[in-house]
Amino acid sequence: MKRISPRLKEAAALLRKVDTVADIGTDHAYLPIYLIEHDICRKVIASDLRKGPLENARLNVEASGFADHIELRLSDGLKEYRADEVQDVVIAGMGGILITEILENAHWVKDSQKHLVLQPMSHAEYLRAYLVANRFRILKESVCEDTGKLYCLMSCVYSGEETKFDDYYEYYGELPNSCDSLACVYLQKLSERCIREATAIGCTDPERTERLYKVADKLDNILSQRK
Ligand SMILES: C[S@@+](CC[C@H](N)C(=O)[O-])C[C@H]1O[C@@H](n2cnc3c(N)ncnc32)[C@H](O)[C@@H]1O
Repeated sequence: MKRISPRLKEAAALLRKVDTVADIGTDHAYLPIYLIEHDICRKVIASDLRKGPLENARLNVEASGFADHIELRLSDGLKEYRADEVQDVVIAGMGGILITEILENAHWVKDSQKHLVLQPMSHAEYLRAYLVANRFRILKESVCEDTGKLYCLMSCVYSGEETKFDDYYEYYGELPNSCDSLACVYLQKLSERCIREATAIGCTDPERTERLYKVADKLDNILSQRK
């Protein structure tokens, strides 16, 4: 069995110890196998949109000997899940926009008893903006390094309350509160990316250019306070 990646291991670390976890877009089912192996939950309902990955998952689950604890399901996002089946939900390895679409199509995740662990491969800003606008609270964020790349992960819960954050929260979320030194590297790279993007846009979109420079300033401020 292939060893689980640092990215998925970090997703596992953000989960609570619950009875049943949903793993959306499970692909190879490495995460469900790890969760059962390490006694993080009793059961995982792991799903994928496509039959091919689900078949891979089935082979790996059978080889792991945990078939009694891992149920595999064909599902577009959370559409084939019932609210009472799972407590925590992991959506990892997908773009931030797709993650918001999956959440938008499952209103039952708007429940303070459910926790979400989200790991966007792109558009983390878009995802955070969605979460805040929809009254989710980001409880914790962390950064991990996997095959030379940095990934951010977040654990969230529906609070139902409107929270006021500054204008740039979508860029950094709870990362400034993370004790992890990789979070600083991530924010530094993000600041550099904003400057690069602002320079490339230049005067073709002055409003966006100005915003990106302000985001970079904000990120630099956060980083200087952490030194
Ligand atoms: C890059 S893999 C990520 C696998 C694993 N979650 C990870 O993080 O390593 C993305 C998986 O999500 C599945 N997927 C894409 N859109 C989906 C959707 N709407 N619902 C469920 N699964 C989806 C794909 O078929 C693919 O197997």
